[in-house]
Amino acid sequence: MKILVVGNGAREHAIIWKLAQSPKAQKIYCAPGNAGTALLAENVNIGVEEVESLFTFAQKNDIELTIVGPEASLVAGISDKFRAGGKKIFGPSKSGAILEGSKIYSKDFMQKYKIPTAAYKSYTNLEQAKEGINLFSFPVVIKADGLAAGKGVLICQNKQEAETALDDLMLDKKFGNAGNQIVIEEFLEGTEASLLCFVAGNKIIPMESARDYKRAFDNDEGLNTGGMGCFSPNYVFTKDTEQEIQTEILDKSLHGLLSENIDFRGILFIGLMFTKKGVKVLEYNVRFGDPETEVVIPRLTSDLVDVIEKTIDGTLETTDLQWTDKKAVTVIAASGGYPENYKKGIEISGLENVSNQVIVFHAGTENKNGKILTNGGRVLAITALAETTKKARQLVYENIKQIHFDGMFYRSDIAKESKE
Ligand code: AMP
Ligand code: GLY
Repeated sequence: MKILVVGNGAREHAIIWKLAQSPKAQKIYCAPGNAGTALLAENVNIGVEEVESLFTFAQKNDIELTIVGPEASLVAGISDKFRAGGKKIFGPSKSGAILEGSKIYSKDFMQKYKIPTAAYKSYTNLEQAKEGINLFSFPVVIKADGLAAGKGVLICQNKQEAETALDDLMLDKKFGNAGNQIVIEEFLEGTEASLLCFVAGNKIIPMESARDYKRAFDNDEGLNTGGMGCFSPNYVFTKDTEQEIQTEILDKSLHGLLSENIDFRGILFIGLMFTKKGVKVLEYNVRFGDPETEVVIPRLTSDLVDVIEKTIDGTLETTDLQWTDKKAVTVIAASGGYPENYKKGIEISGLENVSNQVIVFHAGTENKNGKILTNGGRVLAITALAETTKKARQLVYENIKQIHFDGMFYRSDIAKESKE
């Protein structure tokens, strides 16, 4: 079958890497793709939010399955457009994408369906929001309502920082219209985990767990990013917490989706915080995570085309998902300055020196006249699978040293605290 993957990150490279192993995948296209996806698929120069052009491309090229990476495409209504036109697509409708597209909607959804989450208040008015800070203790969390590439969450240590954050979002529009409305919420202390789940008809089936590192620098310092590294499985999951997550979070989230009549055929990615008072939801995403995909998908031994088709048809069973016991670690090589301003177009060297025990998934890269250049903030995701997390971690760090570009930086503490 002919498959179209929408997106251009390491997530999409990892998805394509896995799809390419399926006997069902005859030809894969990626829109717009990067230098890594071009090795396994044909890149098509259409942007992720150009829903009409993507649909026309899918029609003209007899695409039988479209898999959507980024939230922006889903929020723009790509699934509704494709389904209305009779094209099979993996990803929720616009009515489901809003769970990620609006933090206020998702917090209200969690409150309505009694899903454990941080206490919060939402505001559309700057002065009222500044008053609202007084209802919380410090640190306090301030979030832009709309999409901000994972960067619209600000953790503020005192009132002054909180007021500045509100000015940045609501007055100076640091994230554009995403900051027209904001959420102020209680700061949760604990250990984070990512749980990606297939939502198939009236079932929600979790994948293997992961742990993302959101802050730019070691020891969780610096600004929030899209994610600087990841490992899977996440050791905080135990039999007891799995049961709690199933009844308090997964079952209730599914009940909410069904009760709201949301057409959700795709992935519900739940960001969790394991706190002393139980497991709470930090956020919902409506797609594969990045960098979660780079550690979870290489651990899937089942055929991804098969799994995705069954999810769309609503026939997926837990037993359709088979996983290796091997552990996975990924570390992101990023451009100097990320997540704020950074340069693009810098040549990357040393890729040929990386051992074949690791996989280099490309994120912000492009191939220009045979040279691989940087083309984004997160540039590469270096991934290894091994018998233990420790060994996988060692492989990644040994190999990332082979790669160079001006300004390149990466966290040196990814998976450091993992127990084995
Ligand atoms: P979100 O986009 O809502 O997942 O937030 C991005 C990151 O900010 C999360 O992965 C957490 O590291 C952090 N964060 C968000 N909300 C909270 C909270 N209520 N308490 C503590 N940290 C948070
Ligand atoms: N790694 C978090 C995300 O994909 O949003």
